[in-house]
Amino acid sequence: MGSGGREHAICKTVSQSSKISKIYCIPGNAGTQQVAENIDLDIDNFDKVLKFLQESKVDMVIVGPEKPLVNGIVDYLESNNIKVFGPRKIPSQLEGSKTFTKNICKKYNIPTANFGIFEKKESAIKFLENSKFPIVIKADGLASGKGVYISKNITEGKEAVNEIFNGKFGIAKKILIEEFLNGEEMSFFIVCDGKNFKIFKTAQDHKRVNEGDEGKNTGGMGAYSPSGLINEILENKIINKIIYPTLKAIEEMGERYKGFLYAGLMIIDNEPFLIEYNVRMGDPECQTILPLLKTDLIDVCNACCDENLKNLNIEWREEKSLCIVLCSNGYPEKFTNNVQIDDLNNLKLSNNDFIFHAGTKEKGNKIYSNGGRVLNFVSLSSSFKNARERAMDLINQLNWKNGFFRKDIGFKIIDK
Ligand code: AMP
Ligand code: GLY
Repeated sequence: MGSGGREHAICKTVSQSSKISKIYCIPGNAGTQQVAENIDLDIDNFDKVLKFLQESKVDMVIVGPEKPLVNGIVDYLESNNIKVFGPRKIPSQLEGSKTFTKNICKKYNIPTANFGIFEKKESAIKFLENSKFPIVIKADGLASGKGVYISKNITEGKEAVNEIFNGKFGIAKKILIEEFLNGEEMSFFIVCDGKNFKIFKTAQDHKRVNEGDEGKNTGGMGAYSPSGLINEILENKIINKIIYPTLKAIEEMGERYKGFLYAGLMIIDNEPFLIEYNVRMGDPECQTILPLLKTDLIDVCNACCDENLKNLNIEWREEKSLCIVLCSNGYPEKFTNNVQIDDLNNLKLSNNDFIFHAGTKEKGNKIYSNGGRVLNFVSLSSSFKNARERAMDLINQLNWKNGFFRKDIGFKIIDK
């Protein structure tokens, strides 16, 4: 379920499994259409989704995006006897509510930025008046990566508080004000069956729209895997200080975590701090990670659904993987849709090149843009530098007139 680059990568990977006879993608994009049958249904309409799954005798569902998870699609489908890979409603609050996660951090001593939770504008502003800047101000609840302000001074801070309480990201009952952590970010993934988990690689995202990590936040302009920050000592700290206590917290609520879990971390002097959890794969991190997976993804998902992950050895290719996102001009602000993309099928891809569609749709055998993030170019190579050159080469060959992309993806690891 889903319609982005992440879901195309999932469909493509699953299509290589010998255990699959048919894939549907709800609602999908022009890329998923190449390996699956797209089904034009609203994934937030659980009744209609269930009806379709029952009529089509679907054996297993993989949920891509967070919204249906946070709204409880897994609980709903499971109660109707459908096998589904993804976390249930309560554990999905790890992404759905920042205050839920922060309260777990507090109770279980998980390293994170110091924070306060405020329900009234006046008390939030009073707190800001006695704070050091920069400071981070966040709306509670899902805001698609928006809803986070890094305020340089009290004027900006007040503006952020006002915007959030005035409903810029939907009804805001609570806001979070937290200490600014100055380090380097890393995405850390695990896959969990409710009892055991396995690491599902690391990656680095590039959230800002402009080169050098400047400008507005986006859904992600590119990524690479593995992260250059990871090492054995750090990995052990992440697992012992962050992952185990979180899974324990979920268990003590009488729940179990099943599915992918994505920890957004800030690394400061080889110490991990939790910034946020996501209850799904990252986008575009997923597009860099899945091409590295040697094990059958269906075996991974099945093992999770059957609580049998302990007995599965997840194997990975050794290469570096890098993804560049081709966006519509104007993104993340105003952009035009329905711009034709010519010659996409004429690009010659090697075994190490992948093009995943994000915002695209097909009409009469032609492909059109249908979103801000349009295509993901992923290349695997023995070096990140080669991978980036190859991905850029393909984008340049495509030469889509309505598009732009960051030419510096991976700069922290390549151009040092
Ligand atoms: P979030 O939606 O919580 O991941 O926040 C979006 C982005 O804001 C993160 O990816 C970070 O780049 C930045 N950010 C969030 N919280 C902090 C923090 N406490 N200190 C520094 N940067 C932060
Ligand atoms: N790449 C960031 C996210 O998926 O939330």
